[in-house]
Amino acid sequence: MTQRIPEETIEQVRNQADIVDVIGNYVQLKKQGRNYIGLCPFHGEKTPSFSVSPEKQIFHCFGCGKGGNVFSFLMEHDHLSFVESVKKAADLAHVDVTLPENVAEAEGSAPRVTSEAQKMIELNQLAAKLYHYLLMETEEGYKALQYLKERGMTEASMTEFQIGFAPNHHATVSSFLEKRGADLDLAVEAGLLTEREDGSIVDRFRSRIMFPITDDRGQLVGFSGRLIDQENGPKYLNTPETPLFNKRRLLYHFSEGRTDIRRREEVLLLEGFMDVISASDAGLANGIASMGTSLTEEHIGLVRRIANRAVISYDGDRAGIEAAYKAGLLLEEKSRMEIFVLALPGGKDPDEFIKEYGAERFLEVYLHERMTWTAYKLFYLRKQRNLQNYSERLQYMDEALTEIGKLSQAVERELYLKQLADEFEISIPALKEQLQQKIVEQKSMPNRAPSEEDFLLDLAPPPDDFYGGLVGTQPVRQTLQAYHASEYLLMKAMIGSEEAFSAIHQLLDGLNFQHDEFQALYTHLMAYYLDGNAADPNRFMDYLTDPTLKNLISELVMLETPEEATTEEYLDYINSLKKQILLDRIKQKEAEASEKDRLGDHDAAKQALAEFISLRQKLAKGDYEL
Ligand code: UTP
Ligand code: MN
Repeated sequence: MTQRIPEETIEQVRNQADIVDVIGNYVQLKKQGRNYIGLCPFHGEKTPSFSVSPEKQIFHCFGCGKGGNVFSFLMEHDHLSFVESVKKAADLAHVDVTLPENVAEAEGSAPRVTSEAQKMIELNQLAAKLYHYLLMETEEGYKALQYLKERGMTEASMTEFQIGFAPNHHATVSSFLEKRGADLDLAVEAGLLTEREDGSIVDRFRSRIMFPITDDRGQLVGFSGRLIDQENGPKYLNTPETPLFNKRRLLYHFSEGRTDIRRREEVLLLEGFMDVISASDAGLANGIASMGTSLTEEHIGLVRRIANRAVISYDGDRAGIEAAYKAGLLLEEKSRMEIFVLALPGGKDPDEFIKEYGAERFLEVYLHERMTWTAYKLFYLRKQRNLQNYSERLQYMDEALTEIGKLSQAVERELYLKQLADEFEISIPALKEQLQQKIVEQKSMPNRAPSEEDFLLDLAPPPDDFYGGLVGTQPVRQTLQAYHASEYLLMKAMIGSEEAFSAIHQLLDGLNFQHDEFQALYTHLMAYYLDGNAADPNRFMDYLTDPTLKNLISELVMLETPEEATTEEYLDYINSLKKQILLDRIKQKEAEASEKDRLGDHDAAKQALAEFISLRQKLAKGDYEL
């Protein structure tokens, strides 16, 4: 039996779940004036235009135009139904309410379909449970369990990370799923099983230690399996690319580590699953790793919203040093995170380092011996050159000065200059002179990297002045035409109070809004008030199903405008709407006149021209009545 969530409960969650708390789980928010701002999770951006208002309990992105309340945020971000979003909001904000176990959708909203994706996730969950059980409790898993223990993994970690074991048999998962009546074709699609040439369906993973992989929303989307004895096949085998399992987007332990990443404002980038688990054991739960691919722009998009700093700790071997350099460059280009690199000695990876020197030593390196990104680049560039050779030495110094020239702080520049000076026994003034020259060159380059100033300019804060400050849905601040501004202001007033709605409704006297979405919103608002609802933009949003209308409301609500307007002001706004309609007609008549003239229909042309002139006269007199 499914139940509905009572209206009072929804109301209670709405009132008690603070939107800043909830969104703070997904986006790094900073207080700015009355609002909080951060990087929008719905579109890629480098400068924050995503605002959250604690007073109004509404969010709005002035970059992409998305907006809504706490429920619509969760619906949109986590792809939840309304009812699920209420549950999740209560959960995230620790609102103490009892919600029915099986909740039905509120009337009117679309029924929730159990999509294929959802079913594939459920199949993965079943398989993960089976693999974990086989590892922990059975004879078949004993060898794998011993192997992991020898490597220093605790049983607690195995449980936390749901590590499992896939025995060397072709029908462990397939027969298990078959007995449960699961759709085996779907399990093939999910990458759990594979179809042989003869058409039989068998297990994909065999004789492997299994690492379940979740996506950024915590959904179990696939696995990676490590060979236990060196047999044939790759050391790690992943779920094949499916609509759910996309390596460019997946980061191991991202969803689980999110809280710690946010708390530290810092993400630890690792190469391997074992590194993530060891680091977590050592007390660093902010570790994540890609699935054996190099770091992508999409990965960066996920982490930069919740962290200000990235600490790269890759393998200490040649490949690891290269990979760290590449990852750092991409981070530098695609985010504004501060970057650090841990250099582990002897070509070790973090997991091996921790085993050899202990967790405490690793923490010490992590906290106190991290290299700045500039120091790492200098180290890397130096490695590329044979410094015994004079010309290569000069090349290195030139590259080093280029990097130092990018630093914005004089103290920092001084520090690296001093290092360089000491190392090559060159005077600081000489280096400074060359650096100065470099800075001038870089500034005059047309494609120089954007400076701090450039970022500030395109930052689009919620506007605080009148017409000129109204912001459209474009990322750039734009001034609206007067009539458009009037539509905004009228609508904002009507959403904010029922009296204003009645007054404006009367004054409009059947006049339509010029923009369709305003007209649609107006119609919905009328129905909302007729249903006996009190003015409340936040509740009104839940009354609507069309997300574009919600976006419009959040934009209206976020606009700082004079609190209350008088009837006279409403009339002014309405007049400017009418004026716009008149202007449109004048344009239309003018076009008609010349069109008829072109077609040789001189009577019709004359007629249109006469109307054009009379409308122009009306406009000149300030008579906008239609
Ligand atoms: P490593 O070879 O460094 O593995 O690959 P590891 O994490 O240190 O594992 P152990 O300690 O040998 O057990 C690092 C990461 O690269 C990916 C995996 O994600 C692995 O965690 N990888 C590696 C693959 O995807 N396929 C492979 O064949 C090897
Ligand atoms: Mn490794």
